[in-house]
Amino acid sequence: MSMSKKLYIETIGCAMNVRDSEHIIAELRDKEGYELTNELTQADLILINTCSVREKPVHKLFSEIGVFSKKKKEDAKIGVCGCTASHLGEEILKKAPSVSFVLGARNVSKITQAVKEDGFVQTDIDYDESEYAFGDFRSSPYKAYINISIGCDKSCTYCIVPHTRGDEISIPPDIILKEVKKAVQSGAKEIFLLGQNVNNYGVRFSDKSLKKMDFSDLLDAVSEVDGVERIRFTSPHPLHMDDKFLNVFASNEKICKSMHMPLQSGSTKILKAMKRGYTKEWFLDRAFKLRDMVKDVHISTDVIVAFPGESEEDFEDTLDVVKKVRFEQMFSFKYSPRPLTKAAEYPNQIPSDVGSRRLKILQDLHTEILDEISLSQKGKVFEVLFEELRADGFIAGRSDNNFLIRAKGDKEYLGKFADVKITNPRRMALYGEILKDE
Ligand code: 5AD
Ligand code: SF4
Repeated sequence: MSMSKKLYIETIGCAMNVRDSEHIIAELRDKEGYELTNELTQADLILINTCSVREKPVHKLFSEIGVFSKKKKEDAKIGVCGCTASHLGEEILKKAPSVSFVLGARNVSKITQAVKEDGFVQTDIDYDESEYAFGDFRSSPYKAYINISIGCDKSCTYCIVPHTRGDEISIPPDIILKEVKKAVQSGAKEIFLLGQNVNNYGVRFSDKSLKKMDFSDLLDAVSEVDGVERIRFTSPHPLHMDDKFLNVFASNEKICKSMHMPLQSGSTKILKAMKRGYTKEWFLDRAFKLRDMVKDVHISTDVIVAFPGESEEDFEDTLDVVKKVRFEQMFSFKYSPRPLTKAAEYPNQIPSDVGSRRLKILQDLHTEILDEISLSQKGKVFEVLFEELRADGFIAGRSDNNFLIRAKGDKEYLGKFADVKITNPRRMALYGEILKDE
């Protein structure tokens, strides 16, 4: 039996949080001898890496702490990390005395200190970890998440993130490229570049003497690293989708043809109130240009309904954009007023039942579109990087353009590319057959 201490970690929220959790796991493994466990009851340390982007997960946090503190080993510690830690800080300790420490989304490198000091609270959003050398840990052997920036310089009026992750600082290109090299040397096929606003890369480095480099140049540099087979990134901002960026996206063969374009609203009036910096027309122009330039491009989006002041007409504009762009994937949310944000103070808040109705209309529309998109993939052949062996005898992976694809197969295929012909397209995944090399 191993005597190492056991760490249980739960990660909520975005890909940034997933990466932060990987960093936490690596730090605790390398410096404090912790080993990961999936069994809460075995854990000596329980971490919850939180999200605060909407109200629901924040509520859930406290009920979860309650459940965890009942189930845990008697002397096990509970720590709260991530965006809700940044946002609520000390308050978490007051509300939930079973919590030992609170570590903000921008203070990840302090985890080794936090686990040793009861009552530790560190949530400073000016803290600069852009050059911190974290240890290596990857949740997937084939895919490597790599941060290219921390924080966010935008001030979208609905969004709490600038208040939890602070100002944007880009990570120096040589650090990123070193990470990329390390990742491919240890078997990664796909590099997933992460930032709150990736295509604003290079605007500010911690080291003022660093030469400017924009995101398009960074993408090219990453693609030149030997062994990199696929590059993905998230999230880009529609405002910064200039022609140079779209050209690199379209022409660099290593870049997967899947673009996240967070619309948020289709109404120029609402976009202005959200301080998104673009209009409905600009968004449509970029999306159509992308569809023109890149055959079979996959466009995903985020949409918020019932933002303060959203009229029926504004909502119709959102539906109109969804009909025109026909997103391959859509994440949609009812507006949730967040503390510290401007929009929470706006006078014209929309009643919750109106929001629920709009959300349903939007989601029904998108389901219809998605069914048509899925059906039309029948007979097509996609190159899939297989990543998961499922209990039902299927293996699963993603096409270059980000369709989730499943086929009968075994673990021999994991981490490898294979061509799959789609035979049975479903809404949640496209089922197909692996084409064998002759
Ligand atoms: N209410 C609802 N949705 C929100 N998002 C961000 N802030 C809010 C909010 N206050 C959504 C946006 C963002 C995604 C990660 O979460 O669509 O792109
Ligand atoms: Fe990620 Fe935003 Fe949630 Fe923080 S608040 S975890 S940045 S989605």
